[in-house]
Order: sequence, then structure tokens, then C-alpha cells
Amino acid sequence: PVLVVDFGAQYAQLIARRVREAKVYSEIVPHTFTVEQMLAKDPAAIILSGGPSSVYATGAPFVDPALFDAGVPVMGICYGFQAMAKALGGEVAQTGLREYGGTEVEVCSAGVLLAETPENQTTWMSHGDAVHRAPEGFEVLATSSGSPVAAFENRERRLFGVQWHPEVKHSAHGQTVLEHFLYDGAGLAPDWTPGNVIADQVAAIRAQVGDARVICGLSGGVDSSVAAALVQKAVGDQLTCVFVDHGLLRAGEAEQVERDFVAATGVRLVVRDERQRFLAALAGHSDPETKRKIIGREFIRVFEDAARDVVAEAGAHGEEVKFLVQGTLYPDVVESGGGEGAANIKSHHNVGGLPDDLQFSLVEPLRTLFKDEVRAVGLELGVPEEIVWRQPFPGPGLGIRIVGEVTGDRLETLRAADAIAREELTKAGLDREIWQCPVVLLADVRSVGVQGDGRTYGHPIVLRPVSSEDAMTADWTRLPYDVLSVISTRITNEVAEVNRVVLDVTSKPPGTIEWE
Ligand code: XMP
Repeated sequence: PVLVVDFGAQYAQLIARRVREAKVYSEIVPHTFTVEQMLAKDPAAIILSGGPSSVYATGAPFVDPALFDAGVPVMGICYGFQAMAKALGGEVAQTGLREYGGTEVEVCSAGVLLAETPENQTTWMSHGDAVHRAPEGFEVLATSSGSPVAAFENRERRLFGVQWHPEVKHSAHGQTVLEHFLYDGAGLAPDWTPGNVIADQVAAIRAQVGDARVICGLSGGVDSSVAAALVQKAVGDQLTCVFVDHGLLRAGEAEQVERDFVAATGVRLVVRDERQRFLAALAGHSDPETKRKIIGREFIRVFEDAARDVVAEAGAHGEEVKFLVQGTLYPDVVESGGGEGAANIKSHHNVGGLPDDLQFSLVEPLRTLFKDEVRAVGLELGVPEEIVWRQPFPGPGLGIRIVGEVTGDRLETLRAADAIAREELTKAGLDREIWQCPVVLLADVRSVGVQGDGRTYGHPIVLRPVSSEDAMTADWTRLPYDVLSVISTRITNEVAEVNRVVLDVTSKPPGTIEWE
């Protein structure tokens, strides 16, 4: 892999993604890794990321000069560039001046790194100190008003650096610069493609699983679906997928998994129809937290039962179910410290805590991938587009989109309204612009309306379209009025019990995305 050494700013993930966009596989490692630890990963190249520190700050992350003698191509970015300059004997000055945001640089010698880029270009910078003298043997490639040395390289030693952030889109030729490093500086080939990812993962899954049986909890979401499709491709009918229909799904979702997903992938699927069980458990409850707890608890019980059945059935054929598939993604791995090696699970992200007496080892075929890469792999595997491009949908489903008690009739009403909103948003081509659009039924609120010739006393439906990067914060999406108008007209015409449609114009914070 190309190793991206994380110096503690938020840029490392972005760099890793840009390297992958150049079709070269990358992994993030912490700056606390020793040179030996890095070399143990047999890196094809190393990129030192930006960071919040000054190289002169006490406790500033240190770069071992031995790294530059290992024969591995290295590129330093921002803090990484300065740390590299300092480690190699260049001069880094504490100027006290900051360059921040769009900054003009002038190319004095294109070298390998800046080949085919204009003499004057806008880059995105964020730094205090500046490199005033390049280390011996290095050629200065560019300067800016605050950085006498804004880029350098030593072609023989295959060492490169830039003061700016090529991974940020505001750097006009950033991706080109990264690609020059990867392809020309480090001699790497752009061969990390979804097809190769699939081939590698299939081989890895086969090696891990052998001829044991595997189970997978399918939610209908992107991650569990693509993970299941990969494992299915690797070990075929050794995999059994379990899909719990809790009755809180949107229109067509159960069918999408039961019919389309199975047709596309050939997975062996067990569907548990538990709609009555969830309705019964939810009867009489309208407190959001209570509803969430009930749904979570029932879900775990059902999944446990289903898993035991699969294990028992396999056991009857003399087989052992040893593995559980989990759709863990790379950002989760990085955020939890990048730990390697899967242990027996105690808690399960997607289906809640499984009990200790169900001991499985984990199969996590997506743990090296970002979400958009999972989608690309899913498309390549033939997973239906409706699943691959699905927006986030909460585990408790429509149960937390009915404000009030959940009943069968109310679910019908909400499902109908939600289907209309989704259909119109899709028709307007807005699906990928919107992070998600919860549709909420205010079951305990009634308002007066007039429909046909008569008075109605019905319920409002709330549209909650949001734009977001990660669901931690969100803004309400400015949907075109004519799209809102069609949705409103159709819902009030076509869904009995609903006589009013309202738009939620609250950002998060203060409002959460879901209403409960
Ligand atoms: P909130 O409402 O907290 O939602 O702003 C943030 C994101 O999380 C989703 N969400 C859930 N997802 N189980 C899930 O798998 C849950 O219990 C749950 N609650 C909220 C929500 O749809 C949004 O994307």
C-alpha cells in the first residue's frame, strides 16, 4: 500500500481517498508508528500528511530521518513537508506569518511533481512556519510570498514535498500533483479498481472461511448488502443471510431484498416475518426512547433466534457456523485506532449486542473501504442500484417516524406518504443531492381541512429533507417549490387521513434529523 502517515489533522483521510481516486491503494497509519512498523507493511510509497503543529512546538510529531534512507518514495505535505525539510537538514523558519486559504504559487522548475501544471497556480495553504532553505540535493520547484520554498524534490532519492494541500479541491492542480508523485515519482500503476478489490477480497474471504458456514444479518442498507454479495461471491451457499421484517420498513423494501437482491446475487436468504411481534410489543407506547428500546430489544431477540436456527440447521448437516459477516467500513477502523485482527464479537454494530453464547469470528470484507468505494464495488457486483444508492435509513425504521403510538393503520398511512415523497424526489433527480428525507407522521396532531366538499380533521405529514456530510450536523435542503408542491398535492390527494403537508426548516443542531 501507499501509507499515509497521520499527523493529527483531518487531512489524512482525505489524502488516502485522493490516492485511491488515483487507483492506488492507500492506508492510514498513525505518526507514532516507527520506521520499522511502516516498513513492515511493505509500503510502495509514503505520504506524510499535514498536521496542526509547528515543527518547533514541544511534543511536535517527529519524523525519523531513517525513513528517508529506506529506499521508499516519500512525499511530504504541509506539516509533513516541513518535518521532512527539517529532518533532512533544510531550514524551517518560524516566521510568525500565516498563509491561509487560496494562495498563489509560482513554479520555478516543474520537475516531476509539477510537470504539466501552469507557472502560476492557486493552491490551498494553511501554515505558520515556512521552509526557507531546501535540504542539500533538493531542487526548489515553487515559491509563494510566504514560503520561499513551497515545493521541492530530490528525484534520485525519490523524495518530494509541497507546502500546500494538494488533497483539497481548492488546490487547482492538486490531484495532478498527487498523481505525478504516485505514477512518475514512485512508479506506481493505477490498478486498484473495483474489479481488483473484488478479486482480492474474494481470495481473502476464501482463505479466512475455508469450508465453514457463515451468517449475515441483512438490513437492506448498502453496507450489509455489499458485504453479503462479496461473501456470496467468495463462498456461495456456505453463506446464509437473515433478514428481519419488523414491519417498520418503507414500501417495497422487503421485496427489494427478498426478490431483487436475491435475484442479483443468488444469496441464500432466510426472511423472518416478525411484523405482528413488533406491533404487539409497541402497542400502547408513544415515548420515543421507550419505542427505540423496544424495537432494539425485539430485533436482537429475533436475530438471535434466527441465528440459532441457522446454526441448528447447519449442525444437523454436520456443519459448523463459525463466522458472522459485518459491514464495517474503513472510517470506523481508522477512528477506533486502526486495530487489526478481528476478535470474537461482543457487540454488533448493525444488529445490536449479540449474546456471548453465540460466538462467531467476524468476516469484514469492507474494512478497507470508504463508503463511495463500497458503492462502486456493489455496482460492479451487480447489487441493484436502488440498494447501492440508498440513503441512510435508521434501524428502528418508521417506528421513530410516527410521532405517537405505532399502529398498523398509521404505518400504512406513513408508508403511502413516504413512497410518494421518495418517488417524486427520485423523479426530480434529487436523490444524490439530498442526504436523506425522513417523512414523519404526526399521529397525535390533527388539523382541520377541506377536501372535496367536506370538512376533514386529519393528520399532518412532515417532510424533513436534509443535506449533510456525516449526519453529525445537517442543514435543511432547499428543495424546489414545484417539487414540494407536487409532493404535497399528491400526498393530500392520495393518502387518506392526511390533509396537510409541512416542511421542516430546522438545521441540526438544534433539531436532530429524525423527529424521535
Ligand atoms: P439524528 O436523528 O440523531 O440522526 O440526527 C442521525 C443519523 O442517524 C440515523 N439514525 C439511526 N440510524 N439506528 C440507525 O441505524 C438508529 O437508531 C438511528 N437513529 C437515527 C438518522 O437517520 C440519521 O441518518
